[in-house]
Formats: sequence, C-alpha cells, structure tokens
Amino acid sequence: MIDIHTHILPNLDDGAKDIDAAINLLREAEKQGITSVFATPHILTGLYQPTAKKIVQELNTLQDRLNQEEIDITLIRGAEVGIESEITNEEIMNYTLNGSGKYILIELPFVAHPLNCDEKIFRFQTKGFTPIVAHPERAFSIIKNPDKLKEWKKRGILIQINSKSIMGRYGKMVTNIAIKALKDGLVDFVASDTHNSEWGFDFDVVRTVLEQVVGKPKTDELLGQNAQRLLLSEKINV
Ligand SMILES: [Fe+2]
Repeated sequence: MIDIHTHILPNLDDGAKDIDAAINLLREAEKQGITSVFATPHILTGLYQPTAKKIVQELNTLQDRLNQEEIDITLIRGAEVGIESEITNEEIMNYTLNGSGKYILIELPFVAHPLNCDEKIFRFQTKGFTPIVAHPERAFSIIKNPDKLKEWKKRGILIQINSKSIMGRYGKMVTNIAIKALKDGLVDFVASDTHNSEWGFDFDVVRTVLEQVVGKPKTDELLGQNAQRLLLSEKINV
C-alpha cells in the first residue's frame, strides 16, 4: 500500500516532532503493509514555507535512518500546497508529487471558502498540472455543498479523502460526506494525513471498512494502485 499524504518529515511543519517520532510512526506503517510514503509538508504562506531543497534534505536524512533501522519503506517527495499560497510556477513544479511536474496536492481552507476557489484550482490545470484536492470532506464549503465534488471530477480534478474521515475522527458529518463520495465513485485516493502518534497511520483498520463500503478491487485502487499509477505517470481514471 502507498500513502500519498503525510506530515512525516520533522522540522518543517506541524508534523512529526523529531526524527525518532517519524521512525516510530513509519515502523507502524511498515507493520500495516505500507511500502511507500509520500512526504507532503504544508506550504502555507506566512506559516510554513519550506523550500523544495529543504524538503529533499529532510527526506534524505529520514530515508537514511529508515535504511539503517531496516524499515522497508521508500519515502517520496511532495508537498501539500495551500490554495491561497503565493508561489511561483517554478516553485509549484518543485512541490509536485514525486517531483513529477504534474500532480499537485492542494489544500482548501477548512472554514472560509475563498470566493475564487474554483478559479484557483482550475488555474493549476491551465498551467498543465493535475490537482489532487486533499481531504475536501473536511472543508466547510464541501460539507455545505458536497455536489461540488462531482463538478470537480467532471473537470478532471482528483480527490483524496482522509482515512480518519472514514473512521469518524472528525465527526459524523465528515464521515457521511466521505462515505457518500466513496459510494458515488468520486474518490481517487485514501491517505492517512499522518501528523503524530495520535493522528498516525491507520491503513489496517480503514482497509477493513473500505472493503465493506466499495469492495476489495476499489479498495486496492484507493490504497495503492492509483498511487502507483501516479508514480509511473500513468493516467488515473477520472
Ligand atoms: Fe495534510
């Protein structure tokens, strides 16, 4: 299995507090059958703005420790880019998942919905990127208007929901939106959004629930195959 959204790198955002904490989390990920983990620190102007160079440095340090500890997990570079962040095209390229220059993980604000939110997402597309919207089920604007997900899908935007949303960690409303989106076939990836041991990897438990909701083949797609396609720059069904 492959997790495309985590805050596993220490020293960059509100994720793992140090390298030992990251190692403990990844040891648990390995036990759950996760083989690759994308490191996607927040990019939020004025709050967190690690350079791509810094992200790769931290990733290499953590990968070296994983290898020393014989934990069989491959880290993959990425970022979670806040929709309102002020970044240049060149920076966006460097923040794409796997440095692909194509897939970009985008975060919406939880509470306020910027008036030109759609326009901002579409702008990534006109620049040639494929946006993956991170956990839209947690955004107030989507809870109020979940049909927006259908509209985005039609326009070729990919959707990632959090395992913890399915497991009820953010309340009933978020769970309902997540389950409905899964049943409607609107979801492309399920990811952990791991920050710390309280909000860690949970693919073992979510796999059981997903298999009940969407069946095993789709579960395999959501927890690994689509991420594999992303790594190979193959088309992901939309
Ligand atoms: Fe995140």
